[in-house]
Amino acid sequence: MTSTLDWQEGLPFSTQYGDIYFSRESGVAETRHVFLDQNHLTARWPILKDGDRFVIGETGFGTGLNFLCAWQLWDEVAPASARLHFVSTELHPIAPDELRRALALWPELAKWSAQLLARYGVMAPGWHRLTFAQGRVVLTLLIGDARTTLPRLDATVDAWFLDGFAPARNPEMWDTGLFQVMAKRSAPNATFATFTSAGIVRRGLEAAGFQVEKVPGHGKKREMLRGELAGEGRPSAIPARKAIVIGGGLAGCASAHSLAMRGWQVTLIERHASLAAEASGNHQGILYARLMPKMSPLSELTLAGYQYSLRMLAQLLPQSEDTWQQCGLLQLAFDERESARLHGILDLGLPPALLHGVSRSEAGTLAGVELLFGGLMFPGSGWVSPPALCRALMNSPGITLLAGQEASAIVHGHAGWEVHGESGPIAAAPVIVIACANHSRRFAQTAHLPLRSIRGQVTHLPATVQSRAVKTVLCTEGYAAPARHDMHTIGATYGNLEETLELRAADHRENLDMLSHLSPELYAALGGESLDEGCLDGRAACRCNVVDYLPLVGAVSPGLYVNTGHGSRGLMTALLAGEALAATIEEEPAPLPVELMQAISPGRFLSAKTV
Ligand SMILES: Cc1cc2nc3c(=O)[nH]c(=O)nc-3n(C[C@H](O)[C@H](O)[C@H](O)COP(=O)(O)OP(=O)(O)OC[C@H]3O[C@@H](n4cnc5c(N)ncnc54)[C@H](O)[C@@H]3O)c2cc1C
Ligand SMILES: C[S@@+](CC[C@H](N)C(=O)[O-])C[C@H]1O[C@@H](n2cnc3c(N)ncnc32)[C@H](O)[C@@H]1O
Repeated sequence: MTSTLDWQEGLPFSTQYGDIYFSRESGVAETRHVFLDQNHLTARWPILKDGDRFVIGETGFGTGLNFLCAWQLWDEVAPASARLHFVSTELHPIAPDELRRALALWPELAKWSAQLLARYGVMAPGWHRLTFAQGRVVLTLLIGDARTTLPRLDATVDAWFLDGFAPARNPEMWDTGLFQVMAKRSAPNATFATFTSAGIVRRGLEAAGFQVEKVPGHGKKREMLRGELAGEGRPSAIPARKAIVIGGGLAGCASAHSLAMRGWQVTLIERHASLAAEASGNHQGILYARLMPKMSPLSELTLAGYQYSLRMLAQLLPQSEDTWQQCGLLQLAFDERESARLHGILDLGLPPALLHGVSRSEAGTLAGVELLFGGLMFPGSGWVSPPALCRALMNSPGITLLAGQEASAIVHGHAGWEVHGESGPIAAAPVIVIACANHSRRFAQTAHLPLRSIRGQVTHLPATVQSRAVKTVLCTEGYAAPARHDMHTIGATYGNLEETLELRAADHRENLDMLSHLSPELYAALGGESLDEGCLDGRAACRCNVVDYLPLVGAVSPGLYVNTGHGSRGLMTALLAGEALAATIEEEPAPLPVELMQAISPGRFLSAKTV
């Protein structure tokens, strides 16, 4: 999947396609001439209004040179509050080291390429969202074949950059079907530009409804193609950028953050005195991308969400013992079934930097403690303090926290939606996001959503001299995390349909039994049989599950949205859900494929009969 890059005379070259990534004379000058000038961006961008967005769609991300040049121009001419979305598809993502080498060719772009390199990382197949400059520039990379990624794209594109390799060498990128999809994903008056003037490309674009003209190419290329779709400009339907979010856990804080990044004024209402007092309140949660050998919607969401959460953590929260540690995670093959599942996951062929197989002795060396099983290593994973992450998400201009206020009803009034508490109105705004986990059902508008409360308890065990040697998170059906402030979190139980939150000795025993199976050595190091489950500390909370295990993210009715149902994997899904919701509200390119957006939408439970 990763590109087979070669270097010829210091320039990147694809051995697979026998073609160059950019012009030998001057890649930057060619990009500016072909893609920026012929899409008339220098004229179109300065006249954008405050808060407007502009969407570029590209085929062939390659080294990201076109992206960087577009971003540079955007910084020069677009209004400060407008936002650029750059959506690009790439079948053979360039490895980070090769990308660094390629971008070093353009010192004049160093200011922008350094930011790209800081976020780029491992590019597994699927959708990746990278956010730059406090949300002013958003890159969505669709890793896969353009013929399968673009039909799944949920976006309205204003300008297309067609940049496959030469049509004769890379015909898949100039497929007539692809041009038809482009036309469907285009805003009225959308433009396109491409370096080629090949007849097959011209005819394909014309057949899809584009008006095509030949204009002078760059350097030695006599001609290139540019053009546009016929049609009227679209009216903007975005309401005043004011929203209320109800619920101060991961889902609510992530929703508030993504809206604030788009210039929204957000009031977050939380019934407790502080954020993250319920499910998001554990000292340590783990970043576990639980996948299946066959990619299901849940696996695809988990994989995209895992990588998005890692990027957001790197961006928002410096690592420390208080916040999070990217210490790696080992999923152990603790029985035959699990071993078969892990082998199936390895067969997906995901990049080894994302996950790779390890033998029993390798696992023990990585973990710093003897283990009975090998399994999968996720080097980028680790543990996170969800409350620290919630606070970091809320630390954005434009967010006001109303703590200690409980929302009891939502009504539609003169000023849009109003949130009421027991003693009267709390706040009003045109947009509301309900992120109250199981309590989302208390509002008449969302009472039909099929949510289930699943109690869970974690056990806190004081670190010992031997247990401090544990370096990575260890997982079987449960997990054990390396010590945070001299305390290990071991968890978590899974109690069906329960809501009580008292600590139970039997649940501690269940966690200890899980630990003794996970690693007898670690169990002994932490006290083993001398541990008295009646005297242990821990924490209990309720997960919020949806019957189909996918979260609920999207519109319930105009202006009313939910972000909930994150079950046992909120650290993987809640942040990306907040971003998906903000993209939906702003009618921007979605960070997930269209059918996955539908799969998580509350619209799948339209009728109260499904409860
Ligand atoms: C024991 C346990 C262990 C877990 N371990 C992991 C893990 O290792 N990794 C992982 O990814 N996930 C884990 N999870 C799951 C994860 O914690 C959740 O998916 C995530 O915290 C859900 O976030 P949320 O914002 O949807 O819900 P919550 O954190 O529950 O937030 C909902 C918020 O809404 C507020 N609220 C509710 N009603 C109202 C109202 N009417 N007015 C105002 N405010 C209101 C609540 O007070 C609360 O703060 C675990 C969960 C449990 C219970
Ligand atoms: C000319 S290069 C793109 C250069 C790039 N725009 C830049 O700024 O560096 C063409 C790119 O298209 C990619 N590509 C080829 N076939 C593809 C396909 N079927 N789907 C998606 N990308 C493809 C190649 O891997 C390569 O990165």
